[in-house]
Amino acid sequence: MSVVLTPGQIQARVRQLGGQISSDLGDQPVLVGVLNGAFVFLGDLARAMTVPVQVDFLRVASYGSGSVSSGRIHMTKAPELDLKGRAVVLVEDIVDTGRTVTWLKQHMANLGPSLVKVCALIDKPERREVELDIDYVGFNVPQGFLVGYGLDFNEQYRYLPGVYELKISH
Ligand code: IMP
Ligand code: MG
Repeated sequence: MSVVLTPGQIQARVRQLGGQISSDLGDQPVLVGVLNGAFVFLGDLARAMTVPVQVDFLRVASYGSGSVSSGRIHMTKAPELDLKGRAVVLVEDIVDTGRTVTWLKQHMANLGPSLVKVCALIDKPERREVELDIDYVGFNVPQGFLVGYGLDFNEQYRYLPGVYELKISH
């Protein structure tokens, strides 16, 4: 494994994101984290906010297997707060093909929020398969399979405080 983002780099960037989102959205946005990967990022982002926020989570599953998302997505845990009229920030660990976030943005719109913004710790724009605007991006990482800071490989490595590239041997 090689280091891609140190804990210090992540903390500095998350602090900036929290400040920016706070000044853009004002009081009482709802941070909605996508489980499981976003749990670490959301914890730090919430504490970097300079306005009061509320926190909720959702979970999605995509049909098919492996680390490639098929785009056939369904929600296995919905947010529990009433999001009607609220400013919602979808908090994702990483955007890869873009299919998950595209689906989520459409789905969230049905819940009647006043706006939906997307904040992703990591964007892999080279891998995009559907066009997508991400409002807040922590880092662009061109390639590689990443683990740590919430990101997993087979449910391992989520606890690591930095982000690492996993070299998968064939
Ligand atoms: P997509 O944008 O729909 O392709 O899917 C993004 C999801 O795939 C993320 O929420 C992660 O769960 C997973 N994913 C994509 N790339 C990586 C990676 O490099 N490491 C760990 N998980 C990844
Ligand atoms: Mg995820």
